[in-house]
Amino acid sequence: MNVPLLDLKSQYAAIKDDVNAAIAEVLESQHFILGPQVTRCEEAVAAYSGCAYGVGVSSGSDALLISLMAEGIGPGDEVITTPYTFFATAGAIARLGARPVFVDIDPVTYNMDARQIEPKVTSRTRAIIPVHLYGQMADMDPIMRVAGDHGLVVIEDAAQAIGAEYKGRRAGSMGHYGCFSFFPSKNLGAAGDGGMVVTNDKERAEKLRCLRGHGSKPKYYHKTIGGNFRLDTLQAAIVLAKLPYLDGWTAARQQNARRYDQLLAGLGDHVTCPAVVCERHIFNQYVIRVPRRNELQAYLKEKGIGTEVYYPVPMHRQDCFAPLGHTVGAFPESERAANETLALPVYPELRADQAEYVADSVRGFLAGSALAVSPVAVYA
Ligand SMILES: Cc1ncc(COP(=O)(O)O)c(C=O)c1O
Repeated sequence: MNVPLLDLKSQYAAIKDDVNAAIAEVLESQHFILGPQVTRCEEAVAAYSGCAYGVGVSSGSDALLISLMAEGIGPGDEVITTPYTFFATAGAIARLGARPVFVDIDPVTYNMDARQIEPKVTSRTRAIIPVHLYGQMADMDPIMRVAGDHGLVVIEDAAQAIGAEYKGRRAGSMGHYGCFSFFPSKNLGAAGDGGMVVTNDKERAEKLRCLRGHGSKPKYYHKTIGGNFRLDTLQAAIVLAKLPYLDGWTAARQQNARRYDQLLAGLGDHVTCPAVVCERHIFNQYVIRVPRRNELQAYLKEKGIGTEVYYPVPMHRQDCFAPLGHTVGAFPESERAANETLALPVYPELRADQAEYVADSVRGFLAGSALAVSPVAVYA
């Protein structure tokens, strides 16, 4: 049996008519830059996320970048974030000449350990970027508390977490900015790159709109320097066509996750399944922790099962961040996670027999091994 990590073809087959009609509408209009589809997409995604404003941008990476730009963050500034994330998070900070300041993760959720933030705050700290990794929100209450106490801006990296909830609040709606990615493998994926910043602050939304069009306001008059960070109209139309399906897809991902939890139960310390500590984990990824990760991944590959390591090298160990001066062991939980985590296929269309085959294969690999991992739960 073949089980890919993600099967976008079966998703497309199920919603082909809607997506094709949305594309045709844009092609018929020959209006490719901004316009009604982008506005409608912004309104719909903002409403879905419990926010007043949405600003469509070119990618999740640019959503982070433009949010930092809107705050005027640059050389001499520090931004606190997690080292266990996709590169875009720390990359956006560094691209503006600011310094990423890392705090280690909580080993249960893989999200930033909020208790470690305050000691890292200095007079140069301007912002915190929590990442809602794999589809579960970071512990936002203490993060917002530290931010409030020190006058810091919070930019949620919600690229993997559209629709996730923490204490009744949606991802993107708790900080000053929420950044989404419409990269095709995300729960709400475009047919290419795309992203959005959501906010409840009118002035910030206006600033973002201005920055995404080279800082021009009115047209051809530039008080600030922005860039071309617009969300493509075709991508906006596709995202808009897919949004009504998102809750159904999320429910299917959650069901697949529960199925894996059951199928992989009883393996004791050999496999740690994801801990759900928030109300709504949207399972962009279902990530297990296994001590002999690389061997398991190779074994599953032989069995025709697609998996992925998110992420093999934490940010503080990336060559480009060597000037930050971090050594091995600086963020031990991030390093341990980078060595032990493995994402299994959890896409909505995954069939029960496929999940069973994946779980049986994991069990087959583990037969005879005796390695232990056992973290304990976290959020207050
Ligand atoms: C946590 C995180 N942040 C940022 C991004 C960047 O999004 P994009 O690929 O749309 O630029 C991603 C996407 O992979 C992500 O997973």
